[in-house]
Amino acid sequence: MNKTVNIDWGNLGFNYIKTDYRYISYWKDGKWDDGNLIEDNMLTISEASTALHYGQQCFEGLKAYKTKSGKIQLFRPDENAKRMNNSLSKLLMPEIPVDKFIDACKQVVKANEHFIPPYGTGGTLYLRPFVIGVGDNIGVKPATEYIFVVFCLPVGNYFKGGMTPCNFMIADYDRAAPHGTGANKVGGNYAASLQPHKVAVDRGFADCIYLDPATRKNIDEVGAANFFGITINNEFVTPKSSSILPSITKYSLMHIAEHYLGMKVYERDVPIDNLDVFKEAGACGTAAVITPIGGIEYNGHLHVFYSETEVGPVIKELYRILCGIQFGDIEGPEGWIFEV
Ligand code: PLP
Ligand code: COI
Repeated sequence: MNKTVNIDWGNLGFNYIKTDYRYISYWKDGKWDDGNLIEDNMLTISEASTALHYGQQCFEGLKAYKTKSGKIQLFRPDENAKRMNNSLSKLLMPEIPVDKFIDACKQVVKANEHFIPPYGTGGTLYLRPFVIGVGDNIGVKPATEYIFVVFCLPVGNYFKGGMTPCNFMIADYDRAAPHGTGANKVGGNYAASLQPHKVAVDRGFADCIYLDPATRKNIDEVGAANFFGITINNEFVTPKSSSILPSITKYSLMHIAEHYLGMKVYERDVPIDNLDVFKEAGACGTAAVITPIGGIEYNGHLHVFYSETEVGPVIKELYRILCGIQFGDIEGPEGWIFEV
């Protein structure tokens, strides 16, 4: 493919860019069709679609990376496929075979190869798979038809500055209920996060941090990313909670911390009133990659971890290894990389 596009690869943010092709597949009469690539980025759906009224929809986020030798690779797309199926079954939507999901992602990446940021620019091709309930429906019940789409766009940093520390504030609101859909990637959770996010940004913070909705004593999530901290004993600690999205990046970092850096790794409660145990803290996710947390404002006080301007050594090392694996510079554990 020799197509070129006029994009300033070094200055990409996290903004919509229309790329050339997206994959679309329809579910009707109990089955998914084969799906195909299309050029149109507009969807025409019934005004009575359950996705529009009752939030019957879910999505995923994963990235394609260009390696130094020019290969293209996906990072753990099978995990996104499984998590999407958890979201789908939670909202009584039809699951998507893992192979179909991965094949759709590969087709979209290949067709839009000219939109993949070159190796060394720091940019990646972000893939956004989603499923919506459609068709003529008005009662609060599952749709009878569904659409699965995967589109993509080149992205840079999610939080301004990328690997530079950001400050966060504790939200007064909850994004999910204790036994609700917090562990699923469904739009309703993000609708509930818009207002607390705005409050945080208006106050000069990068985003807000949610406490666990049952007790409001422990850290749950950092905006659209998971929280992790490095204790003064050099352990990797991350919240254990049923109301946070199980982050594929977080589980990858836990593996890296344990098997590449020899650290002890714990999923446990992270009390908001005991942050002194951490010498470094970060937010992690596909979009966020790793964003070092400079400080957290809670009860009118900014608790600073390593520094508000410098990145701590452990987070630097985790970032080096994670990105090294994703961009093909470091050998990853078996099964993490899918060549396109
Ligand atoms: N938490 C939320 C609410 C998210 O939206 C995301 C992004 O996907 C994450 C955490 C990080 O998950 P992952 O590392 O799988 O991208
Ligand atoms: C991701 O990291 O993939 C996300 O979905 C985060 C956000 C952009 C919703």
